[in-house]
Amino acid sequence: MSKTKDKKKAGKTGGKTGGKSVGKSLADQADKYKLYQKSVQEPEHEMDFFEQAYKEAFDRPAKVLREDFCGTFAVCCEWVKQEGRTAYGVDLDDEPLNWGRANNLAKLKPEQQERVTLIKDDVRTNSTPKAHILAAQNFSFWYFKTREELVDYFKIAHGNLADDGIMVMDMMGGGECITDDQNDVRKVGNFKYIWEQATYDPITHDASFYIHFKFKDGSKLKKAFEYHWRFWTIPEVRELLEQAGFSQVHVYWEGTDKDGEGDGEWSRKTKTTSEPCWIAYIVAVK
Ligand SMILES: C[S@@+](CC[C@H](N)C(=O)[O-])C[C@H]1O[C@@H](n2cnc3c(N)ncnc32)[C@H](O)[C@@H]1O
Repeated sequence: MSKTKDKKKAGKTGGKTGGKSVGKSLADQADKYKLYQKSVQEPEHEMDFFEQAYKEAFDRPAKVLREDFCGTFAVCCEWVKQEGRTAYGVDLDDEPLNWGRANNLAKLKPEQQERVTLIKDDVRTNSTPKAHILAAQNFSFWYFKTREELVDYFKIAHGNLADDGIMVMDMMGGGECITDDQNDVRKVGNFKYIWEQATYDPITHDASFYIHFKFKDGSKLKKAFEYHWRFWTIPEVRELLEQAGFSQVHVYWEGTDKDGEGDGEWSRKTKTTSEPCWIAYIVAVK
């Protein structure tokens, strides 16, 4: 979802939104999870980043991944494509988990499928073996709106990690992301993906975002996904991770090419300059 993947997927194209069916609009026939995955997810990119971040923390490969807020757990499925790796996906909601079982897990070899474990539960549970990498992607920890809730979650995540473990999250920011009624429209194959930054309250940092899809026949899938989050800032998150017991917190910022566009190279930074819209990774080392 969202800005992160707009940037990472720039230039990529999506696919079909469904076959023809008499009397039904393209929106009626669409599968919102399929559209979501085509629009915003790039699990191969996440793998590259996880491998880099883990190597820079511990100089060896990681084996065990826990994906919190896993949704359709595309990241878990990508992770186990390499032999010897195991993945644990945790999400509260049966709907994305079942979609992922039918569409992502089913595409793996039986031996790979056995190395994926899914848990329908709150991420604030200790129900998995200790992980080398605990990922909470696509801003999902922003569901936790108070410092108490967030530090509590970070403490639990810390406890779910092996001694040589890292937690990986992404964050977004910049002036464009806190402006009401902003629509970011991107063509993906034969449909349009629309990320709506609907509201942002500067006093509470409550923010609402929606994902809509629009089709060639003019039909729309409005509010296919909606998110009501607290818009956290990097310094706040950093302080709360340290409070939760993490020994180091690194901010990874993307480099730019000669045209000033993101070049897909991420490195640790302690200072940077402002941009209208940015995405960063936060890597907390246990
Ligand atoms: C923004 S989606 C992210 C899905 C996926 N991580 C991705 O990158 O696309 C957030 C997911 O978090 C789940 N979720 C929200 N609160 C949760 C909680 N406290 N515990 C477990 N899952 C939760 C929702 O069911 C939803 O599938």
